[in-house]
Amino acid sequence: MKLKLSIILLFFVTISLVLPLKNSAQVAKGGKKISSDLLGLFFEDINYAADGGLYAELVQNRSFEYNLEEKRDWNPFSYWEFVQPGHSIGHLSVETKLPIHPNNPHYIVVDAEFIGNYPQFKGEAGVGLKNSGFDGMVVREGEKYNFSMFAQQITDVPMDFLISLQTPKGEILAQTKLKTSDKTWKKYAGTLTATASSDSASLVVLAKTSGQFAIDMVSLFPEKTFKNRPNGLRADLAQKLADMQPRFIRFPGGCLVHGNGLGNMYRWKNTIGPNEERKGQRNIWGYHQTAGLGYFEYFQFCEDIGAKPLPVLPAAVSCQNSGGTHVIGGAGQKALGIDDMDEYIQEVLDLVEWANGPVTSTWGAKRAAAGHPAPFNLEFVGIGNEDKMTPEYEKRFRMIVKAVKEKHPEITIIGNSGPFHSGADFDKGWQISNEMQVPIVDEHYYVQPEWFLANQHRYDKYDRKKGKVYLGEYASWGNKLKNAIAEAAYITGMERNGDVVHMASYAPMLAKKGFTQWTTDMIFFDNVNICLTPNYHVQKMFMTNQGDYYFDKVITKDESNNLLAASCVQDSKTGDVIVKLVNVGNDAKIMKVDLSRFKNMLSNAEIIQLSGSADAENTFDNLQKVTPIKSAFKAKSKFDYEAPAMSLTVIRIKTK
Ligand code: AHR
Repeated sequence: MKLKLSIILLFFVTISLVLPLKNSAQVAKGGKKISSDLLGLFFEDINYAADGGLYAELVQNRSFEYNLEEKRDWNPFSYWEFVQPGHSIGHLSVETKLPIHPNNPHYIVVDAEFIGNYPQFKGEAGVGLKNSGFDGMVVREGEKYNFSMFAQQITDVPMDFLISLQTPKGEILAQTKLKTSDKTWKKYAGTLTATASSDSASLVVLAKTSGQFAIDMVSLFPEKTFKNRPNGLRADLAQKLADMQPRFIRFPGGCLVHGNGLGNMYRWKNTIGPNEERKGQRNIWGYHQTAGLGYFEYFQFCEDIGAKPLPVLPAAVSCQNSGGTHVIGGAGQKALGIDDMDEYIQEVLDLVEWANGPVTSTWGAKRAAAGHPAPFNLEFVGIGNEDKMTPEYEKRFRMIVKAVKEKHPEITIIGNSGPFHSGADFDKGWQISNEMQVPIVDEHYYVQPEWFLANQHRYDKYDRKKGKVYLGEYASWGNKLKNAIAEAAYITGMERNGDVVHMASYAPMLAKKGFTQWTTDMIFFDNVNICLTPNYHVQKMFMTNQGDYYFDKVITKDESNNLLAASCVQDSKTGDVIVKLVNVGNDAKIMKVDLSRFKNMLSNAEIIQLSGSADAENTFDNLQKVTPIKSAFKAKSKFDYEAPAMSLTVIRIKTK
């Protein structure tokens, strides 16, 4: 018996000794520990990034809440059509008296007076509504689509409905039947299976029996969303983000965070719970935001792709450009009244409870009710987005930071430093955050590629005793290869300074073709295609090749030439050694690589390279013009590498 016990004990001791070795490999001597959260993503609902974009809902204006304050020619029936095929007769009105929920006040009442019955009419007669989504719905043969609507039968007898997907010519691609059963609001759902494909389908909800009914929240989702999540994300777009393996995702912006005036600030509580109870609003970029892709969907997506959530909450002030634009300026920053601050601070604290609290807590219970009893392990909370550093801001920022630190010392707070890389707001933002000992400060800058080249050593000089940097928004103006390669050079500088630059995210992330408010973006898309910019490829090449130890003196190059940049990191989990070589010039250049400090390198390495002409870019007509190429590489402990003109080269070498 004793022998048996000691054998079991020996087994567990051996396992516990072996396991840590498997989880972390040997790191070479002389490396500097750098952030393991360095590169992530920035998400903002700008350029139709959410509704009509990443959010997979196919119906536009599903809740009949579009209105002329959002766009001059919008109303609750925008993007809908009243249909009465087969010489049917009916009427329609927009009502607000008895909504499903006060956050969703408008709905439609249809009086289907007469359903046509002419024998010579070959189609489906009826009275109802048609929606073509965001410029036509994309439907694929054999795929399933989940339909739902809230309806209230006003007539005493149950009514029959035909729900169909149709081509512009009226050919039926998929259909299902529903029957109402209730005189109060009730959710009805059905599945449509497409028998053919179309890029320009419409959804038609047709009453097949005469009578009156109210209708709201008409929704259609492909069954195949990313990871098949209900109320989920467009699978192809989400996959492109997942492929990048980001370490974190910032949400919900951007200026969208602090909003266009106080009433427009992004309030996270409005974006959780059942869709019909969420509060949509005109977002700061001038269109309707349903909040269907809200906090829950965001946290779920982070978890699904192994990224840490980084929510940013308003610092109780609105955007300084409120009421105007970045170009013309606006009515200025507005601040919540001091009397409202207790309530607002509680809202910030409640987010932490919602994300991390036990299911027995008030807000943890709401997370569990949404289907996620386990905590989301929130680590970071950003306070404020590139705010103007007014006394009103400062007072509120300090109040919020103090409260979060006291109640949740485990949360890492991220402060902000205004919209530019320098200047009065930048200095003041850093000063306030440093005084409050805020551990990380968010910097933003959109500049010319030349700026990135001239400032590659910006962070070499940062005081390591102060807060760390989160470069929360940055991009060089343009999506040509030369922009992306200049950014690549700059990122090597961030890796070199990964002890003080804790995080960085390129912005904005998504832009729908024909619906952009911001022209330099990482991924362009339409309903069918995805156009990855060279900037995306650079981000992905760095993100999928992050390390947590930085090594200097590995690469020798002409230091007087700021068109050349390089870095070397090692990933302590795998032991992989990763070398990045950047040449922003128009001629190939030799760089000398000395890897002799790394032991046990395997010679079969991989190289991935992005190169081309400076002005090359990807377009919807040529999606692959600038694309990285992978090849095998025989690694030696010392070698010379000729970096092609305008290129980023990543060499990844495994160790035993
Ligand atoms: O990324 C686009 C915008 O740029 C963001 O909303 C804002 O924070 C910045 O000015």
